[in-house]
Amino acid sequence: MQVFTKKSLLKEYISQIKEQSKSVGFVPTMGALHQGHLSLIKKAKKKNDIVVVSIFVNPTQFDNKEDLDKYPITLENDKKLLESVDCDAVFIPSVKEIYDKNIVSEKFDFDGLEHQMEGKFRDGHFDGVGTIVKALLEIVMPTKAYFGEKDFQQLQIIKKLVEKHQLNVTIKGCPIFREEDGLAMSSRNTRLTNEYRKAAPFIHKTLKKAKKKFGIKDADKVTEWVENQFKKHPILELEYFTIANEKTLETITSKKNKEKHRAFIAVFAGEIRLIDNIQLKN
Ligand code: PAF
Repeated sequence: MQVFTKKSLLKEYISQIKEQSKSVGFVPTMGALHQGHLSLIKKAKKKNDIVVVSIFVNPTQFDNKEDLDKYPITLENDKKLLESVDCDAVFIPSVKEIYDKNIVSEKFDFDGLEHQMEGKFRDGHFDGVGTIVKALLEIVMPTKAYFGEKDFQQLQIIKKLVEKHQLNVTIKGCPIFREEDGLAMSSRNTRLTNEYRKAAPFIHKTLKKAKKKFGIKDADKVTEWVENQFKKHPILELEYFTIANEKTLETITSKKNKEKHRAFIAVFAGEIRLIDNIQLKN
């Protein structure tokens, strides 16, 4: 596996690959890799001639300095995991290499997608995500780029970014990868204390029950039910639960038969903020 820290050298490598008419799959990450990331890389490997992974903890997408400072960094282990799935190249730039001296986000208009859910609670987050993803796509120039559906709002926003900026790449969303007890895999899970780790599967269990209830109840009733479950929970704190249209991400109160809906949740397990979502059936 080739390791790049400089944009210019990675671009040179990619140009050579493209000259051979080979396709490039790209998986952007912030490191602390887990099976969820590896599943994206395996998928990218199957569908492309080579796969590039980036590892970059992007400062501009963090609205909370402590979350940034404590974000897990496990570079040596990450490299071993990447070797184990036959990753062709990894890009590990410094903050200076990406931002130089100006560590700020571009401002984006994602047609309102950015104002829903995470956008209400994480100020500037999607400008930060847009800035780094656009920069990385311009450096790597992939044929296809892969993102997990755990960050479903991010996935929809990246599709919008590509459409609005006419970037020549296909964005692929991949199903959420879960631990055996249902907890959605996330690099932040390693920061959970034993007590919160044991409690955390309650999030997915509640989503599954909400999905069942959505078959017979309206969205606002399901939302009320979920809010009550968390009011009764001894340690997990609900930040939001909402049922939204998958395309617009706007909250719905009652279902419309031709539209796809998804339930979204954000929960504090102590200091650690966990998000998850589930597709609903009408
Ligand atoms: O989902 C992530 O890990 C990050 O938001 C991403 C897409 C790598 C951008 O920093």
